[in-house]
Amino acid sequence: MKNHPAPSRFMSLEELRPLRRRPRRRSRELRALGLACLLLISYVQWRLYTETSSSRSPDITAHGLFIARLEEDLETCTKLHTKPTDPIGLGREKSARYVDGKPPTLIINATADVYLQHGLIKRLEERIPLDSLPKDTLVYDAKGRPLTTFLRHHPYVRAIDGFQPTDRQIQVIKSGGVTTSLVLPGSSNNIGGEAYVVKHAVGATDGRNETSMACGENSKHVHGKAGERGPTSRLGESWEFRRAFERAAALMRRQDEWCAAARLGLGNVETYLPVELEWEGLIAVLRGHVHVNTHCYTINDLEAFVDHSNEFRFPVRAFHHAHQAFLVPEAEAYIGSEYAGKILYEQGLTPIYVSDNPVINAQHLILEAAKAHRYGLPYHVALASVTTAPAERLGLGSRLGKVKPGFDADVVVWDSDPLSLGASPVQVWIDGVAQYENPVELEKPVKRCVISIPDGHLTAAFTAFGSGLGLNEIESEGVTDNGADGTIFSRGVDGLALNTTKLQVAGRYGVTRAISAPRFIGPGTHHGTSVEFLTGAVTQLDQGAVIHRDAAVHYTLDLSAKRVGSTPSMSAAISVLRDKLLDAVDAMGEQSSNRSERKSEGAFLRRVVIGDLALAITAHSADIIASLLTVKADVEAAIARLGRDSKLRLTIIGGAEAHLRRALTGAPLTEHTAVDVLLRAGVTTALGLEEDWVVRDLGVLASVAFNNGEGRLNETGAFDLVSRNVYELLGLPVPD
Ligand SMILES: *[C@@H]1O[C@H](CO)[C@@H](O)[C@H](O)[C@H]1NC(C)=O
Ligand SMILES: *[C@@H]1O[C@H](CO)[C@@H](O)[C@H](O)[C@H]1NC(C)=O
Ligand SMILES: *[C@@H]1O[C@H](CO)[C@@H](O)[C@H](O)[C@H]1NC(C)=O
Ligand SMILES: *[C@@H]1O[C@H](CO)[C@@H](O)[C@H](O)[C@H]1NC(C)=O
Ligand SMILES: *[C@@H]1O[C@H](CO)[C@@H](O)[C@H](O)[C@H]1NC(C)=O
Repeated sequence: MKNHPAPSRFMSLEELRPLRRRPRRRSRELRALGLACLLLISYVQWRLYTETSSSRSPDITAHGLFIARLEEDLETCTKLHTKPTDPIGLGREKSARYVDGKPPTLIINATADVYLQHGLIKRLEERIPLDSLPKDTLVYDAKGRPLTTFLRHHPYVRAIDGFQPTDRQIQVIKSGGVTTSLVLPGSSNNIGGEAYVVKHAVGATDGRNETSMACGENSKHVHGKAGERGPTSRLGESWEFRRAFERAAALMRRQDEWCAAARLGLGNVETYLPVELEWEGLIAVLRGHVHVNTHCYTINDLEAFVDHSNEFRFPVRAFHHAHQAFLVPEAEAYIGSEYAGKILYEQGLTPIYVSDNPVINAQHLILEAAKAHRYGLPYHVALASVTTAPAERLGLGSRLGKVKPGFDADVVVWDSDPLSLGASPVQVWIDGVAQYENPVELEKPVKRCVISIPDGHLTAAFTAFGSGLGLNEIESEGVTDNGADGTIFSRGVDGLALNTTKLQVAGRYGVTRAISAPRFIGPGTHHGTSVEFLTGAVTQLDQGAVIHRDAAVHYTLDLSAKRVGSTPSMSAAISVLRDKLLDAVDAMGEQSSNRSERKSEGAFLRRVVIGDLALAITAHSADIIASLLTVKADVEAAIARLGRDSKLRLTIIGGAEAHLRRALTGAPLTEHTAVDVLLRAGVTTALGLEEDWVVRDLGVLASVAFNNGEGRLNETGAFDLVSRNVYELLGLPVPD
């Protein structure tokens, strides 16, 4: 067991005083109350205006309308024509979320001293004199480690009506240093709905409303059905957008005409103010009351969207994803580039890295910025892409995104340079309140980073295990995909499609081999036999293209197993698998007398029970993994009763809880990650990929495991996670 460094702890001012001699008096505080006064003045004027405009009234106009209701409508006109301004930062005395009674905090030994009070960053000075601070100030020693603020902009599956304050995800994401999120509804609707900004701490949300729109594959796939509903093509999507905006614009014009007439006298209008709930959101877009966020990937979508915004004259606050935006200054997300951030920046655009929880784990958002830096984005721009840039896009640029007096006290102290691979927070403050009582701190090795990427060369050959590489070109385009075989057992080799863009990308990132099985139901599920092949091959007839036609036998026992025909429950799925294996034991030694039989599920399971092929099960829950271990014991006992000696080679793919202690997310929440615990227990462990795009990151992931392994892994060990160990798990020969 390893001794961890004493965690950075809090102390009192009294404890700190003897450690700091003679403070220099050098307090330079700037206070700008002006802005607050200005706001107060405009508020008073607005009240005066609205109050004087409500004159005394007879009840009903000549057109038979209630005057009181018309007056309310007229007040609505005022609101319709007032543009909200971004919330102020400097000038606030207290954060609206400050909880009375929380003591102030002084962070020392960062680049400068930072003083947090009333939920705000109050002072940032080289050395803040202690006698200028209240007695109850908590002191935190950052021990010279880097300090930043950090927030994210990310699409998520639900907007505020679906917000779950108790969701553990929020804690996990925060443990990656993320303090604020823009949460958008899913990207399946062309016009997604209202998004919201949330801080990862208890307290009311405080932000501007955002509207989210989507283009491209997601919306035409999820909602499109020819002749029935939704767009089924990009032309259809454009038409839907334009029709919606046209209707909203027409209603907005009628509102404006109504307001103009009513202002001249309530007797002039023949109806109440026209409103339609359906178009409220889009009208707010056209009036500039909300910020528009879009999810677009491809050139045609991005350009079409810019066209709509010009036609209907509304600004777009941010394009999310925009994988191909880097091609615009000169098909869907599959032509991404690690260099996109650099290229966009060089074209004068501001890149912002988003997570796409759960697709890109928001806990690891900082890794996206770190990679961008490694792939050429200057340091300050990469850091800004997760701090100031998203804050400005949210309209919260004078409150969030900087460590500066007047800003919200959202601060992260990191265990290493935040843009080094695998950097983890050691403490996180949100609104001035420290979020962790006993955070886990990693001891980082002096020498960092296994893989040097800047010039684009990786040193090792990696094997991608568990993806759909070789079995599809574009995941979300069914026609390019091998499909999901559900209950029909098939062989990956029969569906191999080579020379795809994805495989070419894999090759560029050092992934020279892949082992892929057909899909069971959705992405990240497996069923049938996997094929091992060279990612650089053009067809499977090339010399040596296919290394193992049947590398392992796969089943999936995650929640999707319950959705397939004969196995409506997990217990049924386990029991069916046990029976199939026991049948194979019964048939052990039977020679297969016909060719087609030799490629059947039964024939492959016979090879499994004699230890000739690995049984690879995709499962995540600790309970299912425990059940599988009993199945393995039952089958081995049956083999022993036949007087034979063979062991089942059981491999778990996924295994987020394989250590049987539920998911380990790493520092600062948990002492170890799953990889750590498994390696220490002597379990052969490899890093696979759930989704194909991760293929570029295999090297980066090995580096993170190395950096955060506190010396438990050497370079060779880290590389083995994405090469040798895959073969050991499956009992296949390790390539040279
Ligand atoms: C600050 O950090 C330095 C080393 O970085 C350490 O020597 C010192 O004890 C720390 N604490 C204070 C209060 O200066
Ligand atoms: C956001 O929306 C809510 C309700 O839809 C509204 O009450 C609030 O004023 C809006 N805030 C801003 C800043 O537009
Ligand atoms: C492989 O793909 C490249 C384009 O990426 C293409 O030029 C080439 O003709 C393809 N080869 C074969 C045999 O299809
Ligand atoms: C070959 O094996 C399959 C599967 O067991 C069986 O259905 C089929 O009838 C057999 N064919 C012959 C010609 O024996
Ligand atoms: C790396 O670690 C492994 C086991 O932990 C050990 O067998 C191997 O010798 C080490 N390699 C180097 C180069 O230190």
